[in-house]
Amino acid sequence: MQALFICAMNTIDFLVRKDQLASTELRETTECPLAEGQVRLRVEKFALTANNITYAAFGEAMNYWGFYPAEPGWGRIPVWGFGSVVESRQSAVSVGEEFYGYYPMSSSVVLQPVRPSPAGFFDGAEHRAALHAVYNNYARCSTDPFYSPQTEDVQALLRPLFITSWLIDDFLADNNFFGANEDGTGVLLLSSASSKTAYGTAFQLAQRKGIEVVGLTSAANLEFCRSLGCYHQVLAYDQLDQIAAGAACVYVDFAGNADLRRSIHTRFANLKYSSSIGGTHVEQLGGAKDLPGPRATLFFAPAQIKKRNAEWGADILGQRLLQAWQGFVEKVCNPAAPWLVVQHHVGPDAVRAAYAEVLGGRGDPRAGHMLSLAPNSAPLAAALT
Ligand SMILES: NC(=O)c1ccc[n+]([C@@H]2O[C@H](COP(=O)([O-])OP(=O)(O)OC[C@H]3O[C@@H](n4cnc5c(N)ncnc54)[C@H](OP(=O)(O)O)[C@@H]3O)[C@@H](O)[C@H]2O)c1
Repeated sequence: MQALFICAMNTIDFLVRKDQLASTELRETTECPLAEGQVRLRVEKFALTANNITYAAFGEAMNYWGFYPAEPGWGRIPVWGFGSVVESRQSAVSVGEEFYGYYPMSSSVVLQPVRPSPAGFFDGAEHRAALHAVYNNYARCSTDPFYSPQTEDVQALLRPLFITSWLIDDFLADNNFFGANEDGTGVLLLSSASSKTAYGTAFQLAQRKGIEVVGLTSAANLEFCRSLGCYHQVLAYDQLDQIAAGAACVYVDFAGNADLRRSIHTRFANLKYSSSIGGTHVEQLGGAKDLPGPRATLFFAPAQIKKRNAEWGADILGQRLLQAWQGFVEKVCNPAAPWLVVQHHVGPDAVRAAYAEVLGGRGDPRAGHMLSLAPNSAPLAAALT
């Protein structure tokens, strides 16, 4: 096959077949000239975790494919990362500025900034108007209190996940653990305990007194979860019998595994609440109809943000989140016992391989994959054959 020549006027998109997530393609297209009000950002780097795979798995149902449309049958998975402005026809956004936000798995992207402020802007593209504002917001790195140049990778990898973790912890406490802890013996069960979002949640819960947090994970990840030190107990998925069947408990489900959910709902007659957070076990996802016990309820992070915004005001909420984030980053980046080991994957071949690894889900849970398709970061032409 003939190698394609990549020039500065081309963009590379990583495409995924919507009905077959293992089927991928790298596609090169010529960049269109900008319209008035648009900006072009080079997507410098982005994180890829099971969360992004879940965006793809629920792409149709929850409209994640709607952010960056592609040709019929194909999708561009949204990812969190950093972009720098390389061309601007919007006076409030200058060439050279960097923004944190929700990008496609591409080398560049065209956005249409609206509501610009010192904090950043929103993408006003028509096709994104009906999508949730939290995903349409781009934070200006020069003013963003969460930003520091030393921890860019950690931010791309963990910031969106940790905000969810913080909100889950806040939501559970706000609801008094759904009565599970009235006599001080309640148990919180967290599946996919080795995932970054689950361990962020356990990290927050560990700062509260008096409720036991049990991590459930695959046999291969037991030791990693125990090493985190934020679970009172860690069990393999087939060890549910080590928890008393009558225990008052809450299920916080990151795995989305239908069989596991059924086992938990069936075993624990005193299950007080069942919260569906995600679906890391992409091959075992399934509906939650006709289960014993409470209805499995989708956790909707923006609803908790809205509630706290109304109760506390945006400034207080922002300060609390920032303070918690800083504590988490300190813990995660502790060189003596790192919870996260960043791996860089630069260029199309490396991006393709990293995607296959994250999709397969059997990698080292310490790994944090940072990817880049940006032009001069790798010999792109060689990979696009
Ligand atoms: N609702 C929200 O707003 C929200 C926000 C953020 C994240 N989430 C969800 O939280 C979940 C965790 O995301 P993350 O990015 O933190 O994950 P991550 O760190 O990439 O999780 C890795 C872990 O997930 C499990 N896993 C991943 N792929 C798998 C596969 N193909 N088969 C079996 N197990 C697999 C394994 O854990 P075990 O061996 O421990 O099972 C693995 O160690 C995702 O489903 C995500 O959608 C939801």
